[in-house]
Amino acid sequence: EQYTLDEQRLTVPNPPSSATFTSKIVTRLNPAGNTKLMGLYQSNGVYCTQCEAEGFRRITFFPDRPDILSVYTVRIEGSKEEAEHLLSNGNPVEHGDLENGRHYAVWHDPHPKPCYLFALVAGNLDCLSDTFTTASGKAVDLNIFVETGKQELATYAMDSLKRSMVWDEETYGCEYDLDVFNIVAVSDFNMGAMENKGLNVFNDKYVLASPEIATDSDYANIESIIAHEYFHNWTGNRITCRDWFQLCLKEGLTVYRDQEFSADQRSRPVQRIQQVRVLKAGQFKEDAGPLAHPVRPAEYKEINNFYTATVYQKGAELVRMLATICGPDLYRKATDLYFERHDGEAAIMEDFIRCFEDVSERDLSQFLWWYAQAGTPEVVVSSTWNQASGTYSLSLSQHTDPTPGQNEKRALPIPIRFQLINASGKTVLAETSSPLVNDDVILLTTDEAVVTFEGLKDEPVPSLLQGFSAPVILRHDETEQSRLFRAKHDPDPFNRWSAVNQFIVDGLIASSKENSAHEWSAELLDIISLTLADADQDAEFRAQFLSIPGEAEIARGVGKNVDTAYVHKAKTTFLTALGDRLGLSGIELIHKQDRQIPAANKLDAAGMRALKNALFAPLLAAKIEGAEDLISNQYRSADTMTDRLAAFSSLRVWSDNAALVDDVTGDFYGRYKDIPLVINTWFQVQAQVPREAGLELFTRLLKHPDFTLNNPNRARSLLGPFVANNL
Ligand code: BES
Ligand code: ZN
Repeated sequence: EQYTLDEQRLTVPNPPSSATFTSKIVTRLNPAGNTKLMGLYQSNGVYCTQCEAEGFRRITFFPDRPDILSVYTVRIEGSKEEAEHLLSNGNPVEHGDLENGRHYAVWHDPHPKPCYLFALVAGNLDCLSDTFTTASGKAVDLNIFVETGKQELATYAMDSLKRSMVWDEETYGCEYDLDVFNIVAVSDFNMGAMENKGLNVFNDKYVLASPEIATDSDYANIESIIAHEYFHNWTGNRITCRDWFQLCLKEGLTVYRDQEFSADQRSRPVQRIQQVRVLKAGQFKEDAGPLAHPVRPAEYKEINNFYTATVYQKGAELVRMLATICGPDLYRKATDLYFERHDGEAAIMEDFIRCFEDVSERDLSQFLWWYAQAGTPEVVVSSTWNQASGTYSLSLSQHTDPTPGQNEKRALPIPIRFQLINASGKTVLAETSSPLVNDDVILLTTDEAVVTFEGLKDEPVPSLLQGFSAPVILRHDETEQSRLFRAKHDPDPFNRWSAVNQFIVDGLIASSKENSAHEWSAELLDIISLTLADADQDAEFRAQFLSIPGEAEIARGVGKNVDTAYVHKAKTTFLTALGDRLGLSGIELIHKQDRQIPAANKLDAAGMRALKNALFAPLLAAKIEGAEDLISNQYRSADTMTDRLAAFSSLRVWSDNAALVDDVTGDFYGRYKDIPLVINTWFQVQAQVPREAGLELFTRLLKHPDFTLNNPNRARSLLGPFVANNL
């Protein structure tokens, strides 16, 4: 009579009347049969847990909500043969032998935490170890546990971890707070990785790397995900979320932090271009469709469905805008205050914003609407020039289309970083008395506004939304001349790329229809070709000029009832025109990169590889003489996965030489059949083949003996790109 138990919960109807009591609960689980991979499960014989968001309730009965913070002491017992390592959160306290070949370990985590951060791992693993000394002189043991024999493959992850620890001390004043930091890599994991206190669990795809099996972008992902989960130690763990509506409080902020880390470790403009591509392809699409929802949703049925591009990517953009509006010094003061004021608490979005209000003495109540309002605002800008008075005006307006369940939209505060430039691409200094302008930022807060600049000799060219300072669609009625000018001379590298990209997007939209007469402008193709060859610029930055906008972005521009066959044709026509323009100079550019790539220190040459490999698609599409031979030679002689995979995938998608395509497809499989992470990419590439051939191939691969729905990485590698393949 002391408890009732149903599908959902255990109820103790009459707990002891004293304020405190002890309850002892024994649960029996079947980890090997847990195919949801939530709660306690087994991956390749290793016991592990995943509790975010609501997995702890699959382990034991508990108030499974993030505002219940507890101190955990965990004792694990197991067979020595089956589980050499017994791990949990916090610091190791005690371990020892037991009878019958068993042993035990006790862990204590002094930091109160919600149960979604609980973790337990038990199994036979190898370990890569290192140490880190924090700014205040505390030594921390670092361990990365991997499947036996793979510890060498964790060196880049370890290096990334140490750099993350330094960066968080220097950039946010955040130090690590336990004696050990453990990471475990498992091969069956629903997500990328998980920030359990002191015991991060990773999808092994984001830990294991060597130049032979991982691409340069795999390396970049490892670096940013290691950083992301480490950064959660403060933004998520020390300060957690009161409820799951506040998911963006930890995820948006932590994505912004990992983006800034990558920008500091790598090329800032390249990172920003790639972030914006991801934002537009995933989040803008979400915001424009039936699943549009605010960064902080007002309701949910299943929280697992809200780990979305909107909560993550747009959530990060909102933090970025706060940093832009307040400036770097106040941003740092605000985050210092946040850590000081809310350490050990389960906080809400308003707490975070309040810190910015307090340090900046600004009223940010309008900013909070960004968290409540779904949809991507459109900003329309036009300009007028008065030669006689030397005044230049920008008229700005904003508008957000209705989204499901939200018909009325309010004006939001939109920071537009800008520069006025003259005919030689230099900044012109202009006076303005507009209260909307602060240094190089216009803060548009109303539906419409006009900003006037005075004291100019000639009409300037405005470079707007530099570095993509707000997640909006900018419609700037600039002339083709001025956009071409900016494509060459915009002082903001992001905007140079963006000007070129806008031409490509507009061209693809215009040509995605039957009997399109769109002609690709020779000037545009010249600019792309000259930029690619410009050895004064970073190779990886130049490679971005070959990135084709996502199909969804083109489709949104085309409108309703998009016929994807025309989108595909438009894309092919563009690549062919570009390949024709590049011609043999494209081949020469590839050779030039190859000659410059040093044999040692392969990782440093990622930019050169990115540039040459991005040339493959246009050169193949245009059937430039020698391209196919060059690429198939690269396939065979490659000494990095980046080069081999780029050759394989461009041939697979763009070559119509069936014998060659079959040959490399079979060869790739044969070489890597024992390395599951590489076989995933083999499925991935083939799921990207367009049109009927792609559908036929996909149907065949579903029946391939190596395909399974049981391993999330494998399932996703075939289903993910296929679902995204609209062409
Ligand atoms: N907390 C999440 C992981 C998570 C989310 C686990 C939902 C279970 C359910 C983690 O911090 C995260 O966001 N991981 C991302 C990668 C990150 C770099 C954006 C992921 O797993 O995709
Ligand atoms: Zn996260």
